[in-house]
Amino acid sequence: IHEHVSPDPLSSLSVDTQGLQKQFDELASFSDSPAPSVTRILYSENDVLGRRYIKNLMSLSGLSVREDAIGNIFGRWNGDEPELAAVSTGSHTDAIPYSGKYDGVLGVLGAIEAINVLKRSGFKPKRPLEVIMFTSEEPTRFGISCLGSRLMAGIKEHAELLKNTVDNQNISFFDAAKAAGYSNVENLSSAFLNKGSYSAFVELHIEQGPILEEEAIPIGVVTAIAAPASIKVDFEGNGGHAGAALMPTRNDAGLAAAELALAVEKHVLDSGSIDTVGTVGILDLHPGAINSIPSKSHLEIDTRDIDEKRRNTVVEKIHQSALSISNKRRVMLSQFKIINQDPPASSEEFIIKAAESSARELNLPYKKMISRAYHDSLFMARISPMAMIFVPCYKGYSHKPEEYASPEAITDGVKVLALTLAKLSTQ
Ligand code: GLV
Ligand code: MN
Ligand code: MN
Ligand code: MN
Repeated sequence: IHEHVSPDPLSSLSVDTQGLQKQFDELASFSDSPAPSVTRILYSENDVLGRRYIKNLMSLSGLSVREDAIGNIFGRWNGDEPELAAVSTGSHTDAIPYSGKYDGVLGVLGAIEAINVLKRSGFKPKRPLEVIMFTSEEPTRFGISCLGSRLMAGIKEHAELLKNTVDNQNISFFDAAKAAGYSNVENLSSAFLNKGSYSAFVELHIEQGPILEEEAIPIGVVTAIAAPASIKVDFEGNGGHAGAALMPTRNDAGLAAAELALAVEKHVLDSGSIDTVGTVGILDLHPGAINSIPSKSHLEIDTRDIDEKRRNTVVEKIHQSALSISNKRRVMLSQFKIINQDPPASSEEFIIKAAESSARELNLPYKKMISRAYHDSLFMARISPMAMIFVPCYKGYSHKPEEYASPEAITDGVKVLALTLAKLSTQ
């Protein structure tokens, strides 16, 4: 502990559990779908309202607020030595269609509350502490996940991709950002951060899996994040009349898509590991009429593994299947685009240790675990030492309206985060 901080302030961390619950509810009200579901899509009106809400909370907590060109939001508490690299924490507030109110949000509201907790305790950080709200962790609108953290990590390939990316209404990324007030968005590289900008990054998140709840353990300390990949596929056939065109003459783009979806499942299961997963979450048919043979189909495929090589093998097999299906069914494979094929990330030992000793000091049992979901931490790991703290959630539900974390679970997570930040800020 820093010399002019007695250890006493940190012995009684008081979380405003009720106030925090109210914030979850208020933020959840900025949604494009009815409660209890939450839908908050990048640069939509509700996303902008959510951003305003977060910036206001940051200001109320005495943080100085800054936004970068794409709307990553930073709230900084300058410590005793403001020239030192800051310790940062944060997550996202965008929400996929019909999801819940805790994914990501815990790591933003919980981080701001962790700052409040430290301030109330009388603690003074040595290194600055910074809360980050990342832009578009979810790939919903532009098909690229973790937009904010990918750019902060300076991934040029995705910055380039963004320049030509449109949403499903054909609105470009740049136009959408400008409409949300980010007029400087075309200066994407201004969002890149240097390695060493942060001495540590730690993200608080619901587990999104069932282990902590099943084992009645209040805290998870994440040691690694699985490797995600996503692919966009388009098939094109001739379409035609659903009654008049006879079966032998058809080249049905919809059936090609259906066959590829089943091939994805097969390749994933064939990996032989329970850790390999694959999902076809988007399957669109054109023109989308009951009596018209699909002339175009569009699939978006998500596949992940903790083993990068095994995940890459699945991606390659999916590609081979797409080619052979297009041959066999005489449809054109007009797009097979790997949007991202990211390596996994490992947490840094000194942050793991800080989180573990924080949990121990708070008398909270903890478990080391991997994250099968991805997070902005996956990309922050490229520019900063990283680790994550998990709390249990009801039945491990996430990405659906039933997602729930109890006030007690949230309070425990905020305490561990606060103490971890305090430790890291003096290292
Ligand atoms: C993030 O939302 C993920 O899909 O892991
Ligand atoms: Mn999510
Ligand atoms: Mn999340
Ligand atoms: Mn996520």
